Amino acid sequence: MQFDQIIDRSESYAYKWLKYKGQDILPMWVADTEFKCPEPILQALHQRVTHGLLGYTLPAQHEAANQAVVRWLQYQYGWAIQAEWIVWTPGVVPAFNVVCKAICQPGDKVMVQVPNYPPLLAAAKLNQLERVDIGSVEENGRWTLDFAELEKQAADPKCRLFIVCNPMNPVGSVLTAAELQRIADICQQHGVMLCSDEIHCDLILEEGVKHLPAGNLATFEGKVITLMAASKTFNIAGLGASFAIIEDRALRQKFSAAAQGIVPWVNVLGLTATEAAFTACDEWHAQLLDYLRHNRDYLYSQINQLHGLRMLKPQATFLAWIDGSGLGVESPQRYFESKGIGPSPGADFGDKNFVRINFGCPRSQLERAIDLIKASP
Ligand SMILES: Cc1ncc(COP(=O)(O)O)c(C=O)c1O
Repeated sequence: MQFDQIIDRSESYAYKWLKYKGQDILPMWVADTEFKCPEPILQALHQRVTHGLLGYTLPAQHEAANQAVVRWLQYQYGWAIQAEWIVWTPGVVPAFNVVCKAICQPGDKVMVQVPNYPPLLAAAKLNQLERVDIGSVEENGRWTLDFAELEKQAADPKCRLFIVCNPMNPVGSVLTAAELQRIADICQQHGVMLCSDEIHCDLILEEGVKHLPAGNLATFEGKVITLMAASKTFNIAGLGASFAIIEDRALRQKFSAAAQGIVPWVNVLGLTATEAAFTACDEWHAQLLDYLRHNRDYLYSQINQLHGLRMLKPQATFLAWIDGSGLGVESPQRYFESKGIGPSPGADFGDKNFVRINFGCPRSQLERAIDLIKASP
């Protein structure tokens, strides 16, 4: 099985592996997987490099990459977009920072759900905005937004923007149709722009659960910003290629104007890889989801048997948000590290009682992690 293969990344300058270099700690933190990219992507990259010229390539003119995005969104989500709605960005992080600049004036408020991906939490301050946190609540075995708080905060005229992360990192929930509609209604009612970071949307693990792109919701009438990328799913984050889908022309121009002169074009290899990911890897993608689902189920059953640890089953992503408050230790992060495992510290996401474990790895590595946790000190 291709996903069982262990590939040594220790000499590849991998961010994930350098953190604990020289220590006997298994890195399970930053959100890239231990899986080799699908062959069609590697072949496409080889072919492009063999061509030998790597000069300027304007992403909007890379017809094949744009058509690949159009195909993927239709095929995965039944979302019929036009190629001109796509604005390529060299990462989702620059994209949501550009959104802050495009939509808000210094001093405005921006709502974000917590816990959340650290650069998303940081965006408000970086853009001289005030961050308003919308908490997460546990409901029927999954995390969801504190809608009462969202409703209350959105009513503040200073609140101009809501950056939502769907599927949610780190809690792994996928917004239901009713939840997304409720967000849309609240945003519409109060004139709040929605920016939906959907970088994890191609990683839906729970059978019967569907991802619904915000941009496909009629309520917004095209005035919403959806951010996506092939990077997480196909393990090509190092190539820095992502895209915003913005149907409304004026909003698209506003976004592009805020990026101008600061945000570079997506590099040609990122476009090549995205094209291949979205046209030639359907089977690989289905197998990946199956593998990750089994990893998730294994981790879920093991963690919840361990004293002091608890997790809910993530509906999507390869990330597990683990509550270590029952351990009775000062720092669950240090506890895991002392056991030989390096998760992401929950404090970085907004809750120091948690850690986030990346289960996008060969099963044997995950089993080793569980053995390490079980071993006595
Ligand atoms: C919610 C979310 N947004 C964005 C990113 C990173 O985006 P990029 O590498 O495209 O800037 C991540 C990576 O973990 C993420 O989890």
